Amino acid sequence: TRPLKVALLGCGVVGSEVARIMTTHATDLTARIGAPVELAGIAVRRPNRVREGVPAELVTTDATALVKRGDIDVVVEVIGGIEPARTLITTAFEHGASVVSANKALVAQDGAALHAAAQERGVDLYYEAAVAGAIPLVRPLRESLAGDKVNRVLGIVNGTTNFILDRMDTSGAGYSEALDEATALGYAEADPTADVEGFDAAAKAAILAGIAFHTRVTLDDVHREGITEVTASDIASAKRMGCTVKLLAICERAEDGQSVTARVHPAMIPLSHPLASVREAYNAVFVEAEAAGRLMFYGPGAGGSPTASAVLGDLVAACRNRLGQTTGPGESAYTRLPVSPMGDV
Ligand code: HSE
Repeated sequence: TRPLKVALLGCGVVGSEVARIMTTHATDLTARIGAPVELAGIAVRRPNRVREGVPAELVTTDATALVKRGDIDVVVEVIGGIEPARTLITTAFEHGASVVSANKALVAQDGAALHAAAQERGVDLYYEAAVAGAIPLVRPLRESLAGDKVNRVLGIVNGTTNFILDRMDTSGAGYSEALDEATALGYAEADPTADVEGFDAAAKAAILAGIAFHTRVTLDDVHREGITEVTASDIASAKRMGCTVKLLAICERAEDGQSVTARVHPAMIPLSHPLASVREAYNAVFVEAEAAGRLMFYGPGAGGSPTASAVLGDLVAACRNRLGQTTGPGESAYTRLPVSPMGDV
């Protein structure tokens, strides 16, 4: 089978992890897809700042030429922001490539138009990595729960603010000290305003509400309040009341079914509630559906490796689709490992 060609746009915290995993897991990826996947080019803005381990011969500053090559199967966009990401993605579709994106701002603003553009060309658009890092949420809402009726999606969807609030609560760290730490760990956006003012969480709420309720919700529809006004004394008073402060995203279908709401704001959470024990940059999301009941999704919500994991999952799905095998190559891809009756728990 011919190798599938992948173009990587952006090689920062997430992109460099995607490149690394594609190289180190090449054999496994080939087995799971049913054909080898090859990194054909990596577009960056500043080639002299490319991280160690990234194949230098693949690096280019001409992202447009890369997506226009015509032989690219999947474009992975991890640049973030609206432009040039939007133009590059639509150009990729026009040249027959599927796209995997981690870009919540763009999907929250233009998701409907991008889906339409992909559909017109008969290619895919996937963005599991845009919401809650490694946690599978987009695919479960779109596929596993497609036969159910989701009424509410609620939870913590921004790792940076959770990290800051957690540090302020547990170690008495100041706001800016905690923010610096989150940035150093690769959780925060390039401009952390998006995190602390709630724009990042609001974009994710818009995406989740749109998928959960099968409607169009954009960033402008989301009521938004960040954590910049949360003081050490707010956290201390919450503590005295047996609570902690979390930045929540809440998406709801109105009882009459005629409207939906999406909002992001800090909230007091009783310590007995599962969301109170979500620490550091972890995210946790409850999905309430009519037949399924209440489901909880929990895991690392930010950072290079967790986000790269979601990108890679989408990449495998997009590659399988290119080969016309939506469920993977089947039995032949499985290795035989010894099965022991009991492992460690
Ligand atoms: N800055 C985001 C966060 C990264 O802190 O959650 C993941 O989208």
